[in-house]
Amino acid sequence: MAYNIFTKAVLATGLTFAVSSAFAADVPVQSGASDGMLANTCAGCHGTNGNSTGPSAPTIAGYNPEYFKFSMAAFASGEFPSTIMGRIAKGYTEDEIAQMADFYAKQKFIPAKQEFDAAQAKKADKLHDKYCEKCHEDGGASPEDESGFLAGQWAPYLRMQLADYYAGSREPSKKMKKKMEELHEKAGDAGVEALVNYYASKQ
Ligand code: HEC
Ligand code: HEC
Repeated sequence: MAYNIFTKAVLATGLTFAVSSAFAADVPVQSGASDGMLANTCAGCHGTNGNSTGPSAPTIAGYNPEYFKFSMAAFASGEFPSTIMGRIAKGYTEDEIAQMADFYAKQKFIPAKQEFDAAQAKKADKLHDKYCEKCHEDGGASPEDESGFLAGQWAPYLRMQLADYYAGSREPSKKMKKKMEELHEKAGDAGVEALVNYYASKQ
């Protein structure tokens, strides 16, 4: 898959980075730090090596480095809604974010150990194939996708992202939006919730 959306966003937000880091006084900017040292700041929420231990912070280990950079830029610019990451993302330079992207890309993604409803997960198998697999390949487990992992991601985190997409506070790409609408017309809120269980079942 081509990374055209990333390139565009990263170029567009290059300026935002330069301007906003000067104002992010409450987040220490660590210049000259190694990639591991930079990532230590993130470990409190995203776990050591990016495997998050709490359900509202996503696991970011093994992330596609292009998506990692894209999402940090989108947090900094406000394009991605966030409770915490907007403030954090503004505290790092583009180089530091690139270092962290490489660091996390090398870490192993460990699917979250969590409960799920097996009947719902089974029901959503077909929904995923029909509406989501095209871009979230291997059941949402492919690091080649232009997104984070869906398979094995924390269900409360996924549920919140899906709610943000449906509420319009996180804008999906046009094609994803179309598929999400089709899914909702066909299967309703129950179908969306079944999909969350499907991804949670991938352990
Ligand atoms: C206080 C907790 C906390 C800290 C510290 C933190 N994060 Fe986050 N992170 C979150 C939460 C919560 C989200 C979901 C978005 C939101 O609500 O801010 C998130 C989302 C993300 C995402 C988006 C994943 C996706 O699939 O879109 C990335 C990438 C990320 N964080 C990277 C980092 C990095 C790099 C650091 C360290 C520089 C860091 N985070 C520090 C809590 C945290
Ligand atoms: C045309 C491609 C495409 C289709 C189809 C698609 N997605 Fe996505 N999805 C993306 C891209 C690209 C991103 C990351 C950038 C963004 O937020 O738009 C993403 C991000 C996500 C995220 C947020 C992940 C994170 O780490 O924050 C979720 C959840 C998600 N998709 C669920 C779905 C579901 C469920 C379906 C099926 C109903 C679906 N997507 C269909 C391309 C797609």
